[in-house]
Amino acid sequence: MAIDYAALPEDFLWGTATSAYQIEGAVAEDGRSPSIWDTFARTPGTIDNGHRGDTACDHYHRWREDIGLMRRLGTNAYRLSLAWPRIVPGGDGPVNAKGLDFYDRLIDGLLEAGITPSVTLYHWDLPQALQDRGGWPERDTAEHFAAYASAAAARLGDRVHHWATLNEPLCSAWIGHLEGTMAPGLTDLTAAVRASYHLLLGHGLATRAIRAAAPGAQVGIVNNLSTIHAATDSPEDLAAATRMDGHTNRWWLDPVHGHGFPADMREVYGVDLPERPGDLVTIAAPLDWLGLNYYFPQVVTADPDGPAPRAATVRRADVPRTGMDWEIDASGIETLLLRLTDEYGARKLYVTENGSAFPDTVRPDGTIDDRERQDYLERHLAACASAARKGAPLAGYFAWSLLDNFEWAYGYDKRFGLVHVDYATQTRTIKGSGHRYANLIRGHADRTRRAA
Ligand code: FCB
Repeated sequence: MAIDYAALPEDFLWGTATSAYQIEGAVAEDGRSPSIWDTFARTPGTIDNGHRGDTACDHYHRWREDIGLMRRLGTNAYRLSLAWPRIVPGGDGPVNAKGLDFYDRLIDGLLEAGITPSVTLYHWDLPQALQDRGGWPERDTAEHFAAYASAAAARLGDRVHHWATLNEPLCSAWIGHLEGTMAPGLTDLTAAVRASYHLLLGHGLATRAIRAAAPGAQVGIVNNLSTIHAATDSPEDLAAATRMDGHTNRWWLDPVHGHGFPADMREVYGVDLPERPGDLVTIAAPLDWLGLNYYFPQVVTADPDGPAPRAATVRRADVPRTGMDWEIDASGIETLLLRLTDEYGARKLYVTENGSAFPDTVRPDGTIDDRERQDYLERHLAACASAARKGAPLAGYFAWSLLDNFEWAYGYDKRFGLVHVDYATQTRTIKGSGHRYANLIRGHADRTRRAA
């Protein structure tokens, strides 16, 4: 499949992405406190096979080797998240120097390897201490998040220029507080709506705090968006698709762009927002970039008796799917990049995550020929370049994920890595898709050189 390299800027960031709890392990080391994911994973029945992130990929001790893998892939950028419970173990209050030291070394290692770090402050690992005081449904959590952001930016901001506040607040709010299949595991609409509000407020406050601590920082937010299709043309299904679009996309994009919380969705939820004067201005702090995490499209039908947004996803037959049972549709990434450009006026975009899980087979010679993942990667990159050709200001792509890792409620069985991890020995092996990614990156470099 041809990728229109010429549509991508010369200084395009070719990266991989990970998150702290999914790879680090060392959950009780150097002063780290438990997060809501440690608690959730210890609760029987929450995670497939009872898996937990205690050791994960042991990246806390193997980060040098992992930077070596990034170099072998030829990537020039890396998206990581910081663990709030390492840096401010109490949630608020004293900063733990040892927690920051770890990231300090890691950032220096990346820079020495010529890899630009892109740092996300919150990838779901809220300090349990704050959950015990009410978590995201409480306003204080947003304030504490900004204080933690300030401490991190003050220490690392001389070398880290790309900052993201939140990763996928949709998952924190809707999956964590409404569907209950992610930490903290609640099924309470009022808590979920309040959490969504305070997450976005925390984003706005943290944006301000990062800029104050690290002048010149490029600040953005990372959302997981979906293309939404009505299952039929019936007025009920079309209305359900509008609600699902509100729930999945507009609720997260509109307030950040100064349009406030969508009125139709406020009605659907029927929950009073904990608004205070000035909040909407804080939430709409101008951003330097927007991050898109894209995995799958959604086909929806009306579900009048179901929970908000009273729309259910339909499982279409005869469409290609990943090992997560997620539909594969590369055109969705192009549609969403163009929507962010045209509807929300994005000035700079990154694909901050995109990737696929498939059951990998390690062959007797130790190699992993993951054809389906290679195909997914290539098709989505081609669609990204096509969006760029049509005007989307796409500045980088981060493949999810560098390593196989702890895939939340699915534990270790769902493998998204470009690099295979044997958890018994912590041996890393670059998969076919990793080699393919390296080739694609070289293809862009060759094209850029020829054009110069
Ligand atoms: C995203 C998460 C990431 C990973 C991928 C598969 O929703 O941000 O941590 O789990 O899905």
